[in-house]
Amino acid sequence: MISPEQHPSPEPEYMNAFSDTIDGKKVELFLLRNDNGMEVALSNYGAAIVSIRVPDKNGKIEDVTLSYDNLSDLRAGKSYFGCIVGRFANRIGGAQFTLDGVTYNVPKNDGNNALHGGVNSIDKQVWKARKMNDAIRFTIDIPDGENGYPGTMKVTVVYSLKADNSLVIDYTATTDQPTVVNLTNHVYFNLSGDPSRTILNHEVAIRSSQFTPVDSTLIPTGELKAVKGTPFDFSASKPIGRDINMDDQQLVFGKGYDHNFVLDKRNPSEAAVVVVEPVSGRKMEVFTTQPGVQFYTGNFLNGTEKGRGVSYAYRTGFCLETQQFPDAPNKSQFPSPVLRPGEKWVGQTIYRFSIQ
Ligand code: GLA
Repeated sequence: MISPEQHPSPEPEYMNAFSDTIDGKKVELFLLRNDNGMEVALSNYGAAIVSIRVPDKNGKIEDVTLSYDNLSDLRAGKSYFGCIVGRFANRIGGAQFTLDGVTYNVPKNDGNNALHGGVNSIDKQVWKARKMNDAIRFTIDIPDGENGYPGTMKVTVVYSLKADNSLVIDYTATTDQPTVVNLTNHVYFNLSGDPSRTILNHEVAIRSSQFTPVDSTLIPTGELKAVKGTPFDFSASKPIGRDINMDDQQLVFGKGYDHNFVLDKRNPSEAAVVVVEPVSGRKMEVFTTQPGVQFYTGNFLNGTEKGRGVSYAYRTGFCLETQQFPDAPNKSQFPSPVLRPGEKWVGQTIYRFSIQ
């Protein structure tokens, strides 16, 4: 068993554990490193972040993600650790939407709803990979009709690691028929570096005055609700655990936080979300061009996913999935997720690490 402290560093053995050939396609691990000792491991299976290793306040370098030890666990995973989800991340109510008068039915893989692009979507496929200077570029073509969605969609995701400890994720998508798009990364963070601890002590600030309340199946009602006076108010930094167990119907529906926050208009150089883990001193800032962020507190983790010598338990990781709003294809009042031929969908999200 590997203890959290001994999380496999990218030695040949670790690289081999993530190398294989699937359906004739080569799968490998790619590493990005900078001069501060920060290191990001990426797989072209699911275009996934496999680990992010950053120093704490004492210079100790640890993985701050929930991660697997090998490719077979990544393949078998059910919680979307680190991977790119699409073509429509998050939920579509009733697994159905109408675009230009045509109704599309997509797989119901979350009760009566569609979740994260369907079954064996791009999170469970081998992407093409190209190494660049400080970056890795992953590309995939989603065929017309795959998982019921219209249009061949060409998707590019570029991960770059910068000298200031920013992991930059650039997304582009094009299509040959009108379709809907919502691409995000589903990495789970635990900035303590010890994934046997919950994330409830992490202090979070979100530049958001409104969130999109949901029904009991986590489909937005369509309302934009002010966070003020609710447990969803993160306008001033507070520990995740402060209000998470309050008697609040939205928290009951989400089993905790599992909601889309509407990001306030702000200067692009201002972080949309800031997270600090007080014991390690690690700080993470999230910058994004996307209109929303799904703040998910690992409420479905139940110990079945394993890695780093740990069974990942309830609320031991959190996600900040920058995104279009859930069920946007059925909610004309939400920012439009429609992509048409000749248009290019572009998105950028940055996770920047430092010490506080
Ligand atoms: C998203 C959803 C959650 C859950 C996770 C995966 O964050 O909003 O409800 O489905 O993905 O477990």
